[in-house]
Amino acid sequence: MAIQAIIFDAYGTLFDVYSIGRLAEKLFPGQGDALAALWRAKQIEYTHLRTLCSTYKPFWEVTQDALVFSCKKLGLDLNLDAQQALMAQYAKLAPFPECLSVLQQLRERGLRTAILSNGNSQMLDAVVKAAGMQALFSHVLSVDSVQKYKTAPEAYQIGTDMLGTGAKNILFVSSNGWDVCGATWFGYKTFWVNRAGAPMEELGVTPYGQGRSLVDLLAFVGHAREHS
Ligand code: LAC
Repeated sequence: MAIQAIIFDAYGTLFDVYSIGRLAEKLFPGQGDALAALWRAKQIEYTHLRTLCSTYKPFWEVTQDALVFSCKKLGLDLNLDAQQALMAQYAKLAPFPECLSVLQQLRERGLRTAILSNGNSQMLDAVVKAAGMQALFSHVLSVDSVQKYKTAPEAYQIGTDMLGTGAKNILFVSSNGWDVCGATWFGYKTFWVNRAGAPMEELGVTPYGQGRSLVDLLAFVGHAREHS
């Protein structure tokens, strides 16, 4: 069965979570990259913990909590102005440079494209709008509706329910190795955008396809469709 739709993870896959490091560097000279990296790692850790222990709260708040913790851990004085500036930047994170053009080309090829993200709807709508991508997705889906974060199966199931097709007919695209594993275990075909050149997680999962950017995804999809 050919791929009928593509679902994208948002943060890290379409939108550059580490671009926040530039503002962080201005606010905390010498610590920008360290803050961006710890902030992201803590944010994801908190989503996993909250889902494991059924203590969901929206991703915007989790993101803020992770920022506060990370600054404390790095010994940075996060005053209210700095916190608001960093969160405001998070609301309009820059997309990776190739995203807009690749998404347009996928749509021109007749593929349905959607987002399925841990982000709550308000923050997803804001970041998609800031990137001028509103017209490029049939659905922008948030795990908020099931109050569980990826990698819970209920979170991945939002995609199949809303697109009305089986997971095997959908290519799930993420830059996060753990997300690729969760989506594969759920039953999606997966494409790993390995932007960082990282090793695959040791979880017994082989993605259906992989590359370094969405440009590689475009080539992969073209090839997969020719041979389906
Ligand atoms: C997301 C996070 C995991 O967009 O990157 O779901």
